[in-house]
Amino acid sequence: MAEAKAPHGRGGFTEDVSAESLAEIGLRYEVDGEIATITLDRPDKRNAQTFATWSGLARIGESLPEQVRVVVVRGEGPSFSAGIDLRMFTPEGVPGQGSFGSVARLGDASFEQTVQQAQQGFLWLRRPEIVSVAAVQGHAIGAGFQLALACDLRIVADDVKFCMKEPALGLVPDLTGTKPLVELVGLARATDICLTARIVEADEALRIGLAERVVTRDGLADAVRDKTAELLSTNRDAAAATKRLLQGAAGRTLEEQCAAERAEQALRIKALFGGAS
Ligand code: ACO
Repeated sequence: MAEAKAPHGRGGFTEDVSAESLAEIGLRYEVDGEIATITLDRPDKRNAQTFATWSGLARIGESLPEQVRVVVVRGEGPSFSAGIDLRMFTPEGVPGQGSFGSVARLGDASFEQTVQQAQQGFLWLRRPEIVSVAAVQGHAIGAGFQLALACDLRIVADDVKFCMKEPALGLVPDLTGTKPLVELVGLARATDICLTARIVEADEALRIGLAERVVTRDGLADAVRDKTAELLSTNRDAAAATKRLLQGAAGRTLEEQCAAERAEQALRIKALFGGAS
């Protein structure tokens, strides 16, 4: 597997996604043909996340090579991610990154910009040109849960423990997780899960649609590999067009969705069989 340099990705940016720069912030990123793998790699701290994690994720998104179709997001060690680094709650904060205290002293515009930048680390995982797959074992708490929710699919180990802990800590989930949670499990269940900050284990996750598949911890890598192969077996452009249709479906009327299907299909048929432009 090659270290991902990808100087000119989809965004046309030149981003530093060198192994060294990412290792400093506890991330690993590898590209193997059409598959990119992002690993949260601070297992001794249960892959706790910082603002640097989120800007690293955003840089990866900006520099993702065009050929990549599947992005796997995984965590090293016993937990997928224990959420935001708890040092953020201390007066000292995370070295070089501040604390919630320093964030609280920002003006409204700077605060808005800070959170918006953090959200960029999550948003790109929904792009139509890729399918993102979270491989989740052990704890996925707070920001960890939201990172799993940012992915299109979640394959989980039977020891998974999802928890939206933010409300228990006086915060709201603000890393793009609330919308996919409601879309996946419905408003009532999302309310229950968030406002109790309770743990959702594997069998419930599967039953309510949070997880596509539950496997043993030892079988997680193989299950993700199999899913990746299945996803790569379909036509690249048709897959992207279909994902656009599916993502837009909830916001359209049936008539609008039918029109969107016709428009996408016209492009597909022309691309496949030629015809008048
Ligand atoms: N931030 C910083 N360090 C963490 C975090 C975290 N979120 N979670 C775990 N760690 C560290 C621990 O301090 C410990 O470090 P040490 O070995 O230097 O003492 C190490 O990771 C291992 O943690 P343990 O608690 O010993 O691991 P265990 O497997 O028993 O428990 C668990 C894992 C349940 C995830 C527990 O660590 C935990 O509850 N962590 C905090 C979860 C949390 O409240 N996250 C914030 C959610 S809100 C949000 O994300 C916005």
